[in-house]
Order: sequence, then C-alpha cells, then structure tokens
Amino acid sequence: MSCCWHFILLLALPALFLALCVYYSRVNRKLASRRLPGPQPELLFGNLREVWSYDKPRSLVLRDWSKKYGKIYGFYEGQRPFIVVSDYAMINEILVKQHKNFGARARFIMQERKDGPDTKITEARGHHWKRLRTFGSMAFTPKALRNTFATVEDSATRDSALDYALVRCFRFATILLMSQKMICFEVFATVKSQIENPPNVHDAPLVIKCVWNEESSGTQHNNYYSRVNRKLASRGLPGPSPELLFGNLREVWSYDKPRSLVLRDWSKKYGKIYGFYEGQRPFIVVSDFAMINEILVKQHENFGARARFVMQERKDGPDTKITEARGHHWKRLRTFGSMAFTPKALRNTFATVEDSATRVVDEMERRQGEVDMLEYFQEYTLDVICKIALGMRDVQMFNNEYLDVCRDILSRPIRHPIFALSALFPALGDAIRAELMALASRIPNKFFKLMSMMQQTIEKRKFERQIGDSERDFIDIFLDAEIDDSEVEERHNSERKLSSNEIFFQCITFLLAGFDTTSNSLAYLTHFLSNHPDVQQKLIDEVDAFLAENETIEVDKLADLKYMDAVIKESLRHYPLGSVWLEPTDRPRAAFQSFGEGPRICLGMRLAYLEEKVVLLKLLSRFRIEKTTSTNPIKLVGSITVSPERVMVKLMKR
Ligand code: HEM
Repeated sequence: MSCCWHFILLLALPALFLALCVYYSRVNRKLASRRLPGPQPELLFGNLREVWSYDKPRSLVLRDWSKKYGKIYGFYEGQRPFIVVSDYAMINEILVKQHKNFGARARFIMQERKDGPDTKITEARGHHWKRLRTFGSMAFTPKALRNTFATVEDSATRDSALDYALVRCFRFATILLMSQKMICFEVFATVKSQIENPPNVHDAPLVIKCVWNEESSGTQHNNYYSRVNRKLASRGLPGPSPELLFGNLREVWSYDKPRSLVLRDWSKKYGKIYGFYEGQRPFIVVSDFAMINEILVKQHENFGARARFVMQERKDGPDTKITEARGHHWKRLRTFGSMAFTPKALRNTFATVEDSATRVVDEMERRQGEVDMLEYFQEYTLDVICKIALGMRDVQMFNNEYLDVCRDILSRPIRHPIFALSALFPALGDAIRAELMALASRIPNKFFKLMSMMQQTIEKRKFERQIGDSERDFIDIFLDAEIDDSEVEERHNSERKLSSNEIFFQCITFLLAGFDTTSNSLAYLTHFLSNHPDVQQKLIDEVDAFLAENETIEVDKLADLKYMDAVIKESLRHYPLGSVWLEPTDRPRAAFQSFGEGPRICLGMRLAYLEEKVVLLKLLSRFRIEKTTSTNPIKLVGSITVSPERVMVKLMKR
C-alpha cells in the first residue's frame, strides 16, 4: 500500500509542478495576450518592485511608463493586471458615460473581495457604495460646509491645518509635493548671487520650507530616524544627497560658501524645483517665476509664512519677530511696522538721514587713497537706523558700539552646537528649545550681547519720554502702543497694542534688517559703478542736473532721479540681497523683485531707497569712483546672508 502511495506521489508532484509552470507561464501574460504594451513583468511578482517602490512613488512610475508605452498600457501588481489610460475621451467614457460598467475602484490587496461592513467608501461597490455615498454626501452640502467654515478657518489660522492646507494649496504643488503630511509651506527668501557670474543671477532660487505634521513625526518614533531625510525623495523631488541626521547642514551652514550660492549651484544641478535638508527640516527650492509668483502673490494666504530660524519656537509668541511671525500676529506687527515707513514718517526722518550722509562722505574725504566702501556704508546705515528707529540721538558714527556686534551676528557662520541640536531634532518641544536658548545665552555670544544692549536702549528711551523729550522716532510709534504683558490675556488678539517683548524684538529686527541690507546694496553698487565708468558718468550728469535745480534736497523730489533709480534696481538685480532672479526674458520685472513680492514685500523698501539716493547724491557730487587693483574680483562671504568681504575703490575728487 505504502508503495502505491509513493508511486502516486511520485507522479503527482511532477504533475503539480508542471501545472504550476503552465499556470505561471500564462499569468502575467493576460495583458500581452490582449496586445497591450507595458513593462516586462517578473515571474510571480509582475511589476511589484517598481510600483511599490518607496523611492519613486507609483504615480511617477506610471507617468514615465505612459510616456514610454503610450496612452493605454498594462502592468502587474503581483498577478493583478492593471490597465493605465491617459486618453481624455477614453477616461471620460470610463468615468462618466460607462460609469455603471467601470464604477468599481481597485482595492487594496489585503481588502476582502466581497463588500462587507468593513469596506470603506473608497473601495465599496455597487449598491453598497451608493448607500455610503448618499450618507457621505450629506456632510458636504453647501449648507453643511457653511456650518463648518468657522472651524476650518480657525484651524487654518492656527497653522496646523493639515487638511485645509492640502485642499487649498495650489494644484501643482499638491500633486508634486504634498501628498499627505505636509501642513504648510513657509516662504523664506535668501536669494543672492554672484558678480563674477552675472548671467547666473537669474538662477538664484527662492526657498520654501515645508513643515511636517509634528504629531505624525512623534507617533512614528520607532522608525523615525530610519526614514528621516527621505520625505522629499519619496515625493519624487531631486536634490543633494542628505547625510544621516545632519541632512545637508554642513553645506548650507558653511561660511566659505554662503547658503544662497550653494543653492544657486544646486539649482543648476537639480533644476527649478528640488529639495534639501537643514538637519531634518526639509526645504524646497523653487526658481520658476510663475510658481514663485503664485506662491508669493496669488496664493499668499497659503504660503504666507516665512521659514524660521532653527531656534525659533514653533508657535508665535511675543518674542516672534515680524520677519518670522505668521497669520494674525504677523498682520498686527506689519500694521505697526508700516506706520514707520509712511511718506509722512519718512519726511520726519529726512533731516537725520541727510545729516548722516553728509558726515559719512566727509569722513571718506578725510581718508586718502583706497577705501573699503562697505565699512563706510555700514557706519552710515547703522547710524541712520539707530537714530531714526531706536531714538539713539547721541550715537556717534565711527564710534558706535552696536557696529561690531551687528557685523558679527550677520557675517559669522551660524554654526553653533546648540543651534545644530535644534536642527537635528526639530521635534523638540518649545519648552526644551527655550531652555536651550537660556543655556546658549550663558555662553558668550554676540546676539545675546545685542539683546542686552537693546534692552538698555529701550529703557533709556522710555525714561526720556517720561521727562518730555519730544523727538518722534519709529520706536515711539511702538512705545505709544505699549501695554504690559500681564494686561494682555490673549496677546495675539490684542488689536491695537504691543507687548513690551514685542516692541523689543521689532526693534532688534529693524536694526539688523536696516543695517545689513542697505549697506551691502550700496557697497555692491559702488563696485558696479567702478567697473562701469559710462554708467557712472550718466549718473553723475543726473546728479549735477538735480543739484543745479534743487538748492536743498527734498524727499518728494527724489523721485525725479530716474536714472539713479534704475541703477539701484539694476545693481540689486545683479546682486540680489534677499530676493529672486528671473528668467532673462523677464528682466524688467526681475529688477523689481529684489525687495520680494506680495503682501510680505520688504517693509523698509522706501527707507532703503531714501538712504541710497541721499548718500549717492552727496558722494557723486564730490567724487568719481575708480577701480584699483584690489577691486576685482569681489569675494562673497556669509552664511544666511551674503556680503562682499570688502569693496576696495579709490575716490577721486571731481
Ligand atoms: C536694499 C535694501 C533692502 C533689501 C534689498 C531688502 C530685501 C528684503 C526682502 C527680499 C525681504 C523679503 C520679502 C519677501 O519675503 O517677499 C525683506 C523683508 C523685510 N525687510 Fe527688507 N530689504 C532692504 C532694506 C530694509 C530696511 C532698511 C528695513 C528696515 C529698517 C527692512 C525691513 C524688512 C522687514 C521688517 C521685512 C519683513 C517684512 C514682513 O515679513 O512682513 N528692509 N527685505
């Protein structure tokens, strides 16, 4: 008997093997037998490895196959055959006209074949789907949506509006970037470029940072570090290879090659949209004009938040500066800030600006031989901003204690172990971040020195106000609106007031923003003029004509300096300080992008133009700028911002 069984088994096994061979030689051929093209399937697995890949999402794989195999082709998920259609008429036929025959959606492989109570609406079919759809639709009637609107708006304002952002963000970005977890973008412009290579200025990128849902990174803690730094790649975005944990920190925090130059080079390599990591913070870099315009202007409501410094708390608080504030809080700060730059406010400050300009040019005259224009312009812009923004009337040009501190903050590398910690572990709570910040403040650091100096300046100004000093500066606009922190229950809802902390941080922002940008811009401009004597001559002619016509300089008359206006814009186009290049064909618009675009456009733009025009009038009426052997090439340094290391020229008396 056992012999008989052995005999049967002996025959059955090869038969089974043969049957399997026949079966598997036929599976994965169903599509081919229908003459459908498609990628070659592997035995048993079909095209599973490609369509389940983590590094290249399925829809990108399908997109590439569509290009290769045409508007209708097939592939296999294991042994499940799929047909991919990209012909509009056919899609319409399938989804609309023939819906009854094609109404069933492909199910997840683990889903039961028959509908049951567990079947979700996305996978349900036939009558079961109709029932679920009827109930589901009730939640989305216009009336139901009106009822939920307040909640949606509230969530969106609070910055955690995953769903809201997903729905509202414009389509292109949605498809490309935001498949699931991205909750919002922050716009953060650091676009600078290089003089040595003017045509490439156009490629300077805009950086958008993506913020990921904090909760999800917390819950996925187990495999978090094995997956970090892969979010961008999983969305099909190219970019430089990130190091584990550190991402691309070493490159973007380098002092020798400022961040925006690194980004410019990556843009050339990876194209108009790519990603990189600052520690574990993913950034997306965009250099496409239409998209930037969409982000900064048209979709400002969705992309209005600018990337924050790694140590900045995640939620707005009284310490949040206007440059980093968001939503309603930003609007409040912007309203107060704007009061400082109205034409009337600028007229009030004009005498101070003119006085500082005269002093700096006098000082240039005292120095013989070569001069570093950057040094002088830094003295000038710092003098102006200290006097008009901070009420420091007795500050001395060329003896300003703020100068070294500000220079140091803006030109030194941002590398700091505590900052790096925050970049490596972005999920750290704000409380821990605040503790780290307190720790950092014990280590000698220029930023903390600046903070304590600023505190003293504000206290001094408050005292002067009490004793009746009637000078009106920007700071007074803030101090007029001051209330004690304890008086404000919900700080961000206090419409017409600023807490003392808010005032403090706005002053620091004005100081840093007002000092660095304008002095760099002027230094670049003189470098430009020394290399283009023909442009300089035309400018001098305009200056002479202007001064012949106007005995005294008046703010409103400065608009007549049309050629000067164009030169300032053109030099900013060559050396963008914080904005965007454009395509060579967009040149006229590009020139206007140096101060940003949309509602978050530079707040100090009018002051910057005013300062530049006044000092240029003074300078060019007395000197001609000539290049020396040390003028070229210009060396760019910095970390977040890019500055010329120095701009050496000779001033020849006219
Ligand atoms: C040539 C000089 C300057 C240039 C090229 C420049 C450029 C910029 C750029 C590109 C932005 C970002 C705009 C955006 O995100 O779209 C910005 C923002 C800002 N700038 Fe300027 N800036 C200059 C001078 C100044 C001055 C003199 C001040 C103030 C005293 C100032 C204060 C600010 C502030 C407060 C913001 C943030 C505005 C907000 O977020 O609402 N800037 N600047």
